[in-house]
Amino acid sequence: MIRSYTDYPLQKHHTFGTSATARYYFEFTETEDMKGFLATNREWKNHEILILGEGSNLLFINDFQGLIINPNIPGISIAYEDRNNIWLEVGAGVKWDDLVEYAVFNGWGGIENLSLIPGKVGAAAVQNIGAYGMEIQTQIESVSGIDLETQTEITFEESECEYSYRDSIFKNKLKNRFIITSVSIKLDKFPEFILNYGDLKTETEKHGAINLRNIRKAVIAIRESKLPDPKVYGNAGSFFKNPVVETPVADQLLATYPKMPQYPGSVNTRKLAAGWLIEQCGWKGFRRGDAGVHEKQALVLVNYGKASGKEIFDLSEEIRQSVQERFGVELEREVNVIGSLP
Ligand code: EPU
Repeated sequence: MIRSYTDYPLQKHHTFGTSATARYYFEFTETEDMKGFLATNREWKNHEILILGEGSNLLFINDFQGLIINPNIPGISIAYEDRNNIWLEVGAGVKWDDLVEYAVFNGWGGIENLSLIPGKVGAAAVQNIGAYGMEIQTQIESVSGIDLETQTEITFEESECEYSYRDSIFKNKLKNRFIITSVSIKLDKFPEFILNYGDLKTETEKHGAINLRNIRKAVIAIRESKLPDPKVYGNAGSFFKNPVVETPVADQLLATYPKMPQYPGSVNTRKLAAGWLIEQCGWKGFRRGDAGVHEKQALVLVNYGKASGKEIFDLSEEIRQSVQERFGVELEREVNVIGSLP
């Protein structure tokens, strides 16, 4: 199925709830549809491209003048299984949490801690989504899609995806050039549970035995208690990444702020908690007009109603500046800002 529009309103296609339109919009449910579109609409090359999932990580600051491509490919199928593992082939348009529910229901582990993360499977593979001690890269076998430049279908093995914390080749070299159509995900029939993040273990035990279903229930309960539901208040989850700093810088910060949360990072680095830094600067619960900082998690910016993308962006820049001034730490956006500043 194909849907093709011009001057298309995007409010239903992103979770911040700000208003914006796309000059051109193309949605498809089969890979062949996209290939057909590329072959017959040569002028697509003249447009700026944006590949859209559920829009749970985007902030539009004005109307998008280019072409939005939405690969809304459905389907979860079993590609292969052996005694210990099962490999699922999942369409890029499947809702991430539907996949988690399906896996947990069938008793297959590896993604249960990633319950209730908004977005679609294709975007999850771009973003290397993570939560509660798990990252999707561990379970990804390969990522398939169409390279717009060569118009060919390519499969990237996990080792070729250049995954790191909330990052991948699809966000860098291949940004808006590679349309993910499906993701191969490997799950465990005898999973080892990861329960060492925060109070996940205690929360799981509240639901009974430690098993996949109760871990999922616990993660959902924790997320619902801390993170605003985008259907109620527009938001895109964490607005910034947790900053990674060199160990000596982290030690210096700890000497001045002994309560600062720090986590081990890759070689000679530590990860800081952006939410804590932002809260220390007094932003938690701040609201200006309809743009604000969530009262339970300072890393989440919220649209309380009619905030514009620009108002949310301006607030985010003020936050970034104040964290820089107070701690000397630079916050990098996790959310993709779309559009140019007036
Ligand atoms: N903290 C504060 N104040 C706040 C928020 C957090 O002091 O307002 C402190 C907490 O007390 C804790 C630390 O900061 O000591 C970390 O907080 P939390 O466990 O809530 O996690 P996070 O680091 O803020 C990350 C992910 C979330 C993910 C959670 C749980 C990033 C950018 N964010 O948040 O992912 O759900 O861990 O694993 O890595 C997302 O990416 O959209 C997202 C929500």
